[in-house]
Formats: sequence, C-alpha cells, structure tokens
Amino acid sequence: MNDQIRYYQLRAKEYDTIYQKPERQKDLALIRQYLSQQFSGKELLEIACGTGYWTQVLSTSARKILATDINPAVLAIAQEKDYPQQNVEFHIQDIYQLNPADSSFEGLFGGFILSHVDRAYWEIFFIQCLAQLTAGAEFIFLDNKYVPGSSSPISRKDHHGNTYQERKLVSGEVFEVMKNFPSESDLQPALLEQVTAWEWIEWEYYWLLKCKK
Ligand SMILES: C[S@@+](CC[C@H](N)C(=O)[O-])C[C@H]1O[C@@H](n2cnc3c(N)ncnc32)[C@H](O)[C@@H]1O
Repeated sequence: MNDQIRYYQLRAKEYDTIYQKPERQKDLALIRQYLSQQFSGKELLEIACGTGYWTQVLSTSARKILATDINPAVLAIAQEKDYPQQNVEFHIQDIYQLNPADSSFEGLFGGFILSHVDRAYWEIFFIQCLAQLTAGAEFIFLDNKYVPGSSSPISRKDHHGNTYQERKLVSGEVFEVMKNFPSESDLQPALLEQVTAWEWIEWEYYWLLKCKK
C-alpha cells in the first residue's frame, strides 16, 4: 500500500471535518446545488468516492451510482450514510485499474482525486476515465484551489511540477501527500483533444471541470 492510500485509510474517521471549514460553506452549498442537477437520470461511475459526501448529493437525482474507492475504511463510512433512492452500490476499485471493457456509464464523477494524480500521468488517466463512458456522456472533476491561509502550505515541488503538502492526522502522524492545484490551462494539453465539450467553473475555494466524450 502506498503512503497516500494509507494516509486516507487512517484519515477515514476524521475525513468529513474538511467539509466543516466555515469559510468554505458558501462555496460548498453552491456546489452541492450544482452537482445535484448534473447527472439526473444517469447511471454514474464515481471514482475515489471516499466517505460518500458527494455520493449523497449525486444520488438525489442519478438513476444509479457505482461508488468506488481503493480504501475499505472510507467505503465503510460511505455505506453507513443515507441514500433515500437506494440507488448506490459500493465497490473497491483502484483508479489506476479501471476496467477498460466497461464503457457503459452515462457519467463519471471524481471529487478531490485529480489533485492526487501525478501530472505525468494525466493524459493516460483521462483516456482511461473516458473509456468508461458511452459516447456523449460527461465527466466532472471537482477539486481545490490553493488559497493561502485556508489550504495547507505546499512543502515542495518535484521535477514533473507536482506539489506536495505535509498533512498531520489527529494521531500526530505526519504524511507527505502529493496535492496539485492545476489551472484550466494546465489541464488542457492532457485532455482538450480527447473531448467534445469543455466547461470550467471556479468558486473562491474550488474549481470544477466538466467535459463531454
Ligand atoms: C481527497 S479524498 C476524496 C474523497 C471524496 N471523493 C470526496 O470528495 O470527499 C481522496 C480519496 O481517494 C482515494 N484514493 C486514493 N488513491 C486511490 C486509488 N489509487 N484508487 C482509488 N481511490 C483512491 C482515497 O482512499 C480517498 O478516499
């Protein structure tokens, strides 16, 4: 198990506190509202779903969601939450081993996972995500903007341009975690030629990219 996966396994029980930061509440309410409408009636693949914060939002209108993560510890928390439509199934799934034969999804959502993908791997990662989708289906990635005073400071940058943060858990254990803060133009070279529509939205603390296959 690599350090990032172990970090999220140990962070599982404290993960949802990230959604309680007071200064981010306005953005989060706007994003919940936006995402609750995005995949209405669709069968959706959610990658790296974590504790299910966005799964709950998406499940209010999606027809069906296959919510996946590599960590049983976060999936256990996600599974305990309420999904009144009973339209969510959870599976263990590595984002780097998506099933290339499965191109049946009408949408794909990834919250706060693209920032953890190595920049050198972005193009392949997007190819593999798009391969999950039917023609004309959309994917959405949501992630953080770097906001001084609210974001954890960047501790270093590697030769691919990936940035890292030192993250401390309640236990006191410290992890170095890759966390990128790409701009729209950073992402375009890896993806623009593979998609038929592109939408970029920014709030104060977050960005969202929606693309059509
Ligand atoms: C920042 S959390 C985001 C969780 C959730 N999407 C959210 O927005 O609240 C990142 C998640 O990615 C998962 N993860 C990390 N590496 C992964 C991999 N290789 N395959 C699948 N999930 C992974 C972690 O277990 C963690 O739940």
